Amino acid sequence: MGLSIIILAAGQGTRMRSDSPKVLQLLAGQPLLGHVLDSARKLGADDVCVVYGYGGDAVPASFSDTDVRWVLQAEQLGTGHAVQQAMPETPDDNRALILFGDVPLLTIATLTRLLEQTPANELAVLTVAMEDPAGYGRIVREGNRVVGIVEQKDASKAERAIAEINTGVMICPTAKLKSWLGKLCNDNAQGEYYLTDVIAMAVRDGISVKGIKADNWVEVMGINDKKQLAEAERALQTRLVDELMADGVGFADPARVDIRGTLQCGKDVFIDVNAVFEGDVSLGDGTRIESNNLLRDSKLGPGTIVHSNCHIEGATTGKNCEIGPFARMRPGAELANNVKVGNFVEIKKSKVADGSKINHLTYIGDAEIGTGVNVGAGTITCNYDGANKHKTTIGDDVFIGSGVNLIAPVEVGKGATIGAGSTITKPAPEGELTLERSKQTTIRGWQKPTKKEAS
Ligand code: UD1
Ligand code: CA
Repeated sequence: MGLSIIILAAGQGTRMRSDSPKVLQLLAGQPLLGHVLDSARKLGADDVCVVYGYGGDAVPASFSDTDVRWVLQAEQLGTGHAVQQAMPETPDDNRALILFGDVPLLTIATLTRLLEQTPANELAVLTVAMEDPAGYGRIVREGNRVVGIVEQKDASKAERAIAEINTGVMICPTAKLKSWLGKLCNDNAQGEYYLTDVIAMAVRDGISVKGIKADNWVEVMGINDKKQLAEAERALQTRLVDELMADGVGFADPARVDIRGTLQCGKDVFIDVNAVFEGDVSLGDGTRIESNNLLRDSKLGPGTIVHSNCHIEGATTGKNCEIGPFARMRPGAELANNVKVGNFVEIKKSKVADGSKINHLTYIGDAEIGTGVNVGAGTITCNYDGANKHKTTIGDDVFIGSGVNLIAPVEVGKGATIGAGSTITKPAPEGELTLERSKQTTIRGWQKPTKKEAS
């Protein structure tokens, strides 16, 4: 039997106090709705439909490369009305799983349990026990069976005392759901078409309704404001770090790390405090990330050390490289093996071959550097003429003295030495010392200026 997933995402989320729709707020670097779409994909649904509304096309536009059905709910008349908008194109013989764009932390394990424990022709709601159930729909049971859900505003005093609440998540046979939704009315305290009213209808039709309990309330928490968003962020970060620790990754403090994307780690990786990982980052065996580092879309080879305070984006390294402290690696920085990049060095769109060192205060852009090269402090590849970028090529075993300007396009031959302070505009031949310096002059008897008396 096929599975349709209907994700409700039409609400504004007034309490976010934001111009963008709630489901586009970021959690671990990804919109809330993106997390729910990821779950839908992992469950292998053959039909995923998102009901959107507030924010209009901004929501579908943010997921233009995702294969889902978008259905507009122009007016938010209630959760039942929202699901109804998705029904016309939902196949009758599929099961329908209802998820929410603002409930991003549900685990695949819980959802799988919900699907597996519910027979195909029955209905089940995902519930959870809350210490303070105020505001939620209460689960009314007779014995083991669920017989209805009562919203807070419609509940009697006795019903308000029930601690088991409706998470909103529900699985049911589509054909039956369609017939129940057609009979919904909005004569309740909020004047809305409640999805939850289908429970009592199912019971009346003699269908058994299960209430399946989630393991904890954190995974079913709905995000309504920035405080809950921050709570969910911490909960998700804890989950991601726990998974990495179970795989053997070491953290100085699991509470002081942020993963906004996917972080893949080899064996014996150690991550110190305040490391932020964005996009796809991969760390080879034995990699060490010291404190205060940002790594985005980068791949570090085994044994590489990133000292404190580096900004690394779109970079790759081979084995045993050393970066920082205070280095910036920009997109296209490719270090081979045993390369050292020291403090206040910026590298962009450049290849640096095995064993080369660029240790201090240097800019390398659009360059190709051979093996065993030493680039002296304060060296600049002058790659930009104000209109176009040009390439610098440095051969194997070159020694570049301190404070050298390499005016690209320019080439330094294998084994060459460039004298400190030179501005190199022409090819420097292989194996020779090339330097460019104006004559040193001394002005004998020159007087230092003196400070004038205040008048
Ligand atoms: C709903 C449930 C309640 C449950 C609670 C869990 C109903 C009637 N009540 O209440 O039992 O305890 O969720 O959080 O279902 N939405 C739309 N279109 C609409 C209305 C809502 O897309 O017309 C979306 C909202 O964006 C939101 C979700 O559905 O993400 C829930 O809607 P909301 O109005 O917050 O329902 P609750 O009153 O919280
Ligand atoms: Ca809600």
